[in-house]
Amino acid sequence: MPIPMRKVRVRGWFGPSSALWRLAISGIALSAAIAQTPAHSPMEDEFPEGAGKQLVIQACQKCHTLNRIYDTDLWTYQWRDTVADMVRRGAVLDNDQAQTVIAYLAKNFRPSGPVRLRVVLPEGEGKAIITGDCQACHSLQKIVILRRSATDWDSLVHTMIRQGAKVRDEDIAIIVEYLTKNYGSLTSAQTSTP
Ligand code: HEC
Ligand code: HEC
Repeated sequence: MPIPMRKVRVRGWFGPSSALWRLAISGIALSAAIAQTPAHSPMEDEFPEGAGKQLVIQACQKCHTLNRIYDTDLWTYQWRDTVADMVRRGAVLDNDQAQTVIAYLAKNFRPSGPVRLRVVLPEGEGKAIITGDCQACHSLQKIVILRRSATDWDSLVHTMIRQGAKVRDEDIAIIVEYLTKNYGSLTSAQTSTP
């Protein structure tokens, strides 16, 4: 009976004495010294105002971009599972903060809500090249979901060229630098805690 088991597990994760809760506390203590907000992403402005928005901005950009969340519509129970899963993976939120984030996401990113297909790319030299060269086969959304290292962005752009993307040789370095700057892996000094 997978559904009841799932419920019990989620309650356990967020219970006041759960291992996860203790892990979150030690995570806060550990990273407090190096806390720093990631570079401003224009996608932040697309998120509706409300309690929980700042927590999402601070806790949810370490491993993937905000587009990963913007792209997802879930019912409340699914957000509860997803946020618990993210905390298990390393998102730093205490129990109250997690509840605030769940309520915020469930209100604003629900399956019956407004359709959102918007992707706002940060300004920069690479923006026009990507907008022009990279949308022939898939959406921009596909490009900006994950964070990658400079090496991985470089090899990905070359893979796309092998797939058929028409990118001028002199533009390759510009796109790789743009993608790494805006969607690169974050060092621990760039990741933040609420
Ligand atoms: C420590 C790394 C990490 C942090 C921090 C993190 N995530 Fe994730 N997230 C992941 C990984 C890894 C995946 C991909 C999991 C998969 O595809 O199975 C993911 C996937 C997702 C998805 C897609 C899940 C789906 O069912 O399609 C959503 C939505 C999401 N994260 C939301 C969040 C939110 C909200 C936060 C902040 C509370 C957050 N993430 C913080 C690692 C993280
Ligand atoms: C000629 C077609 C084509 C063009 C143009 C193209 N791509 Fe792709 N791209 C693909 C295919 C095929 C895949 C893999 C299948 C899929 O996931 O849809 C893909 C997947 C991706 C992914 C996801 C890869 C992953 O493993 O998560 C990213 C990121 C990406 N492309 C970036 C770009 C960038 C940046 C550009 C512009 C330089 C670009 N693409 C242009 C065909 C293309």
